Amino acid sequence: MAERRVLVTGGAGFVGSHLVDALVQRGDRVRVFDNLDPQVHGPGATRPSWLSPEAELVIGDMRDPDAVNRALRDVQVVYHLAAAVGVGQSMYRIAEYTATNTLGTAHLLQALVDREMELDRLVVASSMSIYGEGRYRRPDGAEPRISQRTPEQLRAHQWELRDADGAILQPAPTDEDKPLDPTSIYALTKADQEKMCLLVGAAYGIPTVALRFFNIYGPRQALSNPYTGVAAIFSSRLLNGEPPLIFEDGEQRRDFVSVHDVVQALLLAQESPAAVGQAINVGSGESVSVRQVAETLAGVLGVELSPELTARYRVGDIRNCFADISRARTLLGYEPRVTFKQGLEELVAWLAEQERPQDGVASHAAELAARGLTL
Ligand code: UD1
Repeated sequence: MAERRVLVTGGAGFVGSHLVDALVQRGDRVRVFDNLDPQVHGPGATRPSWLSPEAELVIGDMRDPDAVNRALRDVQVVYHLAAAVGVGQSMYRIAEYTATNTLGTAHLLQALVDREMELDRLVVASSMSIYGEGRYRRPDGAEPRISQRTPEQLRAHQWELRDADGAILQPAPTDEDKPLDPTSIYALTKADQEKMCLLVGAAYGIPTVALRFFNIYGPRQALSNPYTGVAAIFSSRLLNGEPPLIFEDGEQRRDFVSVHDVVQALLLAQESPAAVGQAINVGSGESVSVRQVAETLAGVLGVELSPELTARYRVGDIRNCFADISRARTLLGYEPRVTFKQGLEELVAWLAEQERPQDGVASHAAELAARGLTL
């Protein structure tokens, strides 16, 4: 395959840096555009050691239209992964999240249009968060009428979703046709990013693909970031001899996808003609409960630390969302390769080599509480 010139926004981050490795390995010339956000990279961060030395790093912010414009020079493929990613934080830094994610994407698209660039491909990172709750079925198989839990139900610790007549709803794999229901500013900006790229792509003939990522985990997940995922949080607690803290009853289900499978999907999105113009789920296709995450991790680490069930609700949480990946299989030829156990073994091996992470989670919880954003 001929060398391609590829821009990866957010390419110094968790997912981006793994993508950069794969692109460099197959001989592409890669430019990274990243602001090295201190919340992710630490204060005063310089080029992260994990970023491939083969990649050109341009430090810049999505909110700076000139910097975004310059980063696009001479590229043929754009992966737009840069975003501010704190779900809770997005609820009190509303303008900042909208500027970085929504307006930042607008700057990128504006530059593409102004430069009349004929890209081979634009791939944008979307998120399962845009669905809100996943799909559900009533016991009689009918479509439910209710799509969220009420504050009263949550206060009464009724964790499962119930329909209008009280029937408990069964979670089902979420396909891309599920109506979107973003429930945070972060989720709303992800829906914006996806839709803006797809519609500008269609209008200007830029072949564009949106990938809706489920819960991604793996090495390089930022541990000091309070918005890192549950697998990394539980692992670092267990490594520090502390029990994982489980919200609700631990039976809430997610789809945990290894960063390597995410990279597979990102590469396929660049090749497949059938994927153009589409939004596509990227998950493992398996659902796992939060309790199973804690148990599998304890098994991997060989520790006898039972998780602590807090029976508390984390504000903004959904109960269940896991992916139907049929579309990714059909349109991308995607097939997840990393099992949850293998992926956790890799995560834990990486974490064990890191310096003891600062716990950004506790201070963040206090900040949310101070703003009345907890139940
Ligand atoms: C959210 C975002 C998603 C983002 C991800 C990681 C939504 C709908 N989705 O996913 O876009 O990629 O965060 O930033 O907002 N849990 C515990 N104990 C903990 C931490 C978490 O029990 O210490 C539980 C949560 O209550 C939740 C589950 O684990 O039920 C998963 O949490 P998390 O890893 O933060 O991801 P999501 O909330 O699914």
